Amino acid sequence: MVWGPGSVLLAVVLLCGLCAWLRQRFHPWNLQHCSTDLTGKTAVVTGANSGIGKLVSQELACRGARVILACRSQEHGQQALAEIQAVSNNDRLLLGEVDLSSLASIRSFAQWLLQKEPKIHLLVNNAGISGIPPKTLTPEGLDVTFATNYVGPFLLTNLLQGALRRAGAARVVNVASYRQKYGYIDEKHLTGAGGPLSFNQNYDCSKLQLISFTGELARRLQGTGVTVNSVEPGIVYTNIMRHLSWPYRLVFWLFSFFLKDPRQGAVPVLYLSLAQELDGVSGKYFSSSCVITLPAKPAQDPHMAQSLWNASVQLTNLDKMD
Ligand SMILES: *[C@@H]1O[C@H](CO)[C@@H](O)[C@H](O)[C@H]1NC(C)=O
Repeated sequence: MVWGPGSVLLAVVLLCGLCAWLRQRFHPWNLQHCSTDLTGKTAVVTGANSGIGKLVSQELACRGARVILACRSQEHGQQALAEIQAVSNNDRLLLGEVDLSSLASIRSFAQWLLQKEPKIHLLVNNAGISGIPPKTLTPEGLDVTFATNYVGPFLLTNLLQGALRRAGAARVVNVASYRQKYGYIDEKHLTGAGGPLSFNQNYDCSKLQLISFTGELARRLQGTGVTVNSVEPGIVYTNIMRHLSWPYRLVFWLFSFFLKDPRQGAVPVLYLSLAQELDGVSGKYFSSSCVITLPAKPAQDPHMAQSLWNASVQLTNLDKMD
């Protein structure tokens, strides 16, 4: 039998359908079956105006939380807030302005937030960027990718530590990436110095740093009631791809059917945020199918984590704060 173009097309369509069905069918955690109610709880989500962050915020809002949507663009943030409000009927949402690549912006956001919210029960460090050439510096002299994906969450989480501790039981969820396995840890990367980086390996390294930070923070928070874990959402088709060059974007667009949509990408993040079985679980890295897994070797090394922590404290002047 000869395969004509029609049968090839049909086979491809059937295969796509099967893949989509399998993805839905075998997801090990069912959001609909999770009964966690967040009434009276405060949650902060960075990068909340689109993609995974928006869907996570929406789900938290539907469960009654006061959600602080921390966005860089107030215009996009306002739009997302209106949409989430309409879907969730929750009138306790709040828009905050923060640019995670700027230490000054994070400080003023944290100050504003702490005046409003003495207790924070959930912090989702979701905002991230990808596709920026390595060694592109911010006005503060940091590599913009490392600043946004790692230093920003490091500083923000530390500034909010008091409010997280006051909550009694609180969770920090760091959104990493499967790309962490292609990264390595060199603290000099933070300032654009450090070892060589191939295209977008700055992204991979920054996510590995975020996982290393997760481990170190968990050790420091032991016994406080605050847990911190990181998760890979899978390969999700969101506008994080917007900085990639057009051939890459084209390939991703062509294969977007096989990638997760943001709704599916939000599920593992919500699992870490909501699942009751994770009470007390801390310092772990979760795969996109919600299973505890080991990150790349450098992020398993506590000495390296402490060294990165120390460098980050210095860089953010965290030790010289009031
Ligand atoms: C990090 O700093 C602490 C406190 O200053 C110090 O005790 C520790 O040895 C440092 N760790 C590393 C790996 O540099």
